[in-house]
Amino acid sequence: MGDNTPRHPSDATVEQLVAGEHAIMREHLAHMRSIADDAPLEIPLTLRDRLDAVLSFLRNDLVPHIQTEEEIIYPAFDSVAGADWFSQAMLIDHEAIMTTLGQLDRAIADIRRPRRRDEIQRLLYVLEALLRLHLDKEDRMSAPLMGQLDSRTGESLRRRLAGHAVQHHHAPWGFSAHPKP
Ligand SMILES: [Fe+2]
Ligand SMILES: [Fe+2]
Repeated sequence: MGDNTPRHPSDATVEQLVAGEHAIMREHLAHMRSIADDAPLEIPLTLRDRLDAVLSFLRNDLVPHIQTEEEIIYPAFDSVAGADWFSQAMLIDHEAIMTTLGQLDRAIADIRRPRRRDEIQRLLYVLEALLRLHLDKEDRMSAPLMGQLDSRTGESLRRRLAGHAVQHHHAPWGFSAHPKP
């Protein structure tokens, strides 16, 4: 976040709010990657602690982000003529992300079984790749749509996203409730 970062979510534009959320996601992806690299040789208790931090991010940041997109962001974009293909494509990504997250949850619950740590490593890498591609795709495909929202839709979207950022204590504005790497 540079000097132009608003001091509070209510001063931010839609673009800044979405970019702020995605910046938080990318920061956690680097964290996930380092846990995946270490997983096969990590001491089980330490691995469990580190995975708890990842799961906290996935459940408390990622899942609400996906829900907000599906409830308010994508429907707003669908109001732009010819843009509903955008949400269709993004929803398919969300489905794949949520399926992989479910598999990761189950593998972590079963961490003591042999070969589970290899499976956890594989799922963390898969999830990281899915999320990186999804965030890049969403950023690049949504940019041209932002400017086409009518001003009332844009403003109501902006207010709801700002409310979401405050409710989830998002980091670009100085605090995050979730464990850091
Ligand atoms: Fe998304
Ligand atoms: Fe997103």
